[in-house]
Amino acid sequence: RVFPDAGAASRAAADRIASTIRAASPGHRAILGMATGATPQKVYSHLASLHAAGGLSFRDAVTYNLDEYYPIQPLDPKSYRCYMHRHFFSLVDLPPQQGHVLDGTVPEGFVAAHCAEFERWIEADGGLDLQLLGIGRNGHIGFNEPSELTVAEALALPTRLIELHPLTREDAAREFGGVDKVIPRALTLGVRAILSARSILMLATGAHKAEAVAAALAGQMRASLPASLLQAAGERVTWLVDEAAASGVS
Ligand code: F6R
Repeated sequence: RVFPDAGAASRAAADRIASTIRAASPGHRAILGMATGATPQKVYSHLASLHAAGGLSFRDAVTYNLDEYYPIQPLDPKSYRCYMHRHFFSLVDLPPQQGHVLDGTVPEGFVAAHCAEFERWIEADGGLDLQLLGIGRNGHIGFNEPSELTVAEALALPTRLIELHPLTREDAAREFGGVDKVIPRALTLGVRAILSARSILMLATGAHKAEAVAAALAGQMRASLPASLLQAAGERVTWLVDEAAASGVS
């Protein structure tokens, strides 16, 4: 779906999240996969406005974030835990124990166990109803970076510790005050868990995303362009893009 600008695309994403919450019943809370970065900020401000106007409560929602730098302290302003606090958690009524972010402080020897546990929590909650995604300029989803794996291997990638791609580090340089200061590793929800969401919303805005958007929608699935793997989810995926991000799609 192509929108005239980022504001309209973001409102459509927020409206989908709001309907998912409204469709939940007492026996089934809305389980939401959240993203960070520049793109979803307008989605969060729209959700916060709906909440402030009295039209939306997150009391019965549960959120799981896609990724977190590693290692990082939760109170570090550059952590995604802090981002979520700033843009969302502090503005809505989501009970604190229902907002999950991968833990950037677990000792290295426990990272694999923590990542497996994060996936088990999602499964125990009944699985993700909706996963919100952004796209990296290199086509990454979450921090599943381009690789030389086979498609089958890439589709099966679990939640894990990864090394950021050079382009991802470049894009994070502004927040960190220089490319050399960017924390080079991160924990990310794996492709397998992302693709198992019942609905996936990919939000892409701005001309700098046009090339990655066009490449992900064209041709075969390939591990060198992780967003192309969303093709495996078929109709469960909706691309919400503004005109600038759609400009390369033929
Ligand atoms: C963030 C995430 C990343 C971003 C992507 C786009 O949680 O998982 O995949 O969605 O890097 O980032 P922005 O929106 O800053 O262009």
